[in-house]
Amino acid sequence: MSLDEKLETALKKRRINKNLRKLSTAKGLIDFTSNDYLGLARNEELSERIHHASGNLYNGSGGSRLLSGNTDLAEETEKYLAGLFESENTLIFNSGYMANLAVFSALPQRGDTILYDELSHACIKDGIRLSMAGKYRFKHNDMDDLAARLKKAVGNVFIAVESVYSMDGDQCPLDELVELANAYNAKVIIDEAHTTGVVGRNGGGLSMSRELHHEVFARIYTFGKGMGIHGAAVAGSQVFIEYLINFARPFIYTTAPAPHSFIAIRESFRYLTSHPELQDKIAGRIAQFKTEFEKIADRFVYRESFHPVQAILIPGNEQVTQASKKLSQDGFDVRPIFSPAVRTGSERIRICLHTFNSADEISSLIDSLAAL
Ligand SMILES: Cc1ncc(COP(=O)(O)O)c(C=O)c1O
Repeated sequence: MSLDEKLETALKKRRINKNLRKLSTAKGLIDFTSNDYLGLARNEELSERIHHASGNLYNGSGGSRLLSGNTDLAEETEKYLAGLFESENTLIFNSGYMANLAVFSALPQRGDTILYDELSHACIKDGIRLSMAGKYRFKHNDMDDLAARLKKAVGNVFIAVESVYSMDGDQCPLDELVELANAYNAKVIIDEAHTTGVVGRNGGGLSMSRELHHEVFARIYTFGKGMGIHGAAVAGSQVFIEYLINFARPFIYTTAPAPHSFIAIRESFRYLTSHPELQDKIAGRIAQFKTEFEKIADRFVYRESFHPVQAILIPGNEQVTQASKKLSQDGFDVRPIFSPAVRTGSERIRICLHTFNSADEISSLIDSLAAL
């Protein structure tokens, strides 16, 4: 079989299973799908501030941070974030994918153990795959299962969790987890991707809102979701950041973000910290959705969530595609999530709420869901 035939066979299998991925654009539909929870990606004032502050900076960084790509601006931005996140230091990456790949591939060594929640994001799993440490997954948010695995763990032990899980919108039981980790002297690494900006002082996520940020070993903050821009940062101790600069290949062997990206990060956090009402506004949208959805909830399998991500299970790739099509005919951009992105039988529509979704839009969406 030629290579092209092999590729075509793989695609055909996807077509048969109704889970072929395709690029698409929304074209005038009401956004209930992007991760732009606080509307900062489309915020004109922020956009102007970024353009104004970018002035006549270079267009690109010209190299890796370890070569020509480092600037005072990059280091100042990292110090600024460390102040906001109350960590010794931070290190900025091109994306959350890269940040997770860096942490999990570089930190745990042969003879160590990584325990990770089974619903961890692909980039956490990919980073873990690159590590020589022993790796075991534990049942989603199941502290008894984690405890059983901690008992058998050897070497330095790392626990990988997300503050909020991207496909379900449910939260990790961080208080309990930290207590358990401390009992076994394990180090917690928390991916705050979906809580960056959305909750916590200075947008510092779940760990800061629970005052547990000093109890976890490292935090990964991403800027492409609630912050409305691009990039990510790892927050941790000075020694850990220096270690990443020396050993994390996704940091070393890549072109540094452009100066414009550092400006965007700084301005986006400045905007957020001067608009504390954004977090209240998104909390209000979530409360409205939950109250109204409650009335029709018995028709669906619904994952309880206090986050902008609201997952409504519609098992079957074909069924969930039809549901999403119906919602788009009604004017809403709500995307289907197929298996294998989620477990077979737990296919879903993933609704993302935003500060810019009006009360009427949310009520109309609920009406459309009721008519599915
Ligand atoms: C939990 C989690 N971590 C990391 C990432 C990757 O972040 P980025 O989009 O910045 O690469 C995502 C993105 O979907 C995510 O959901």
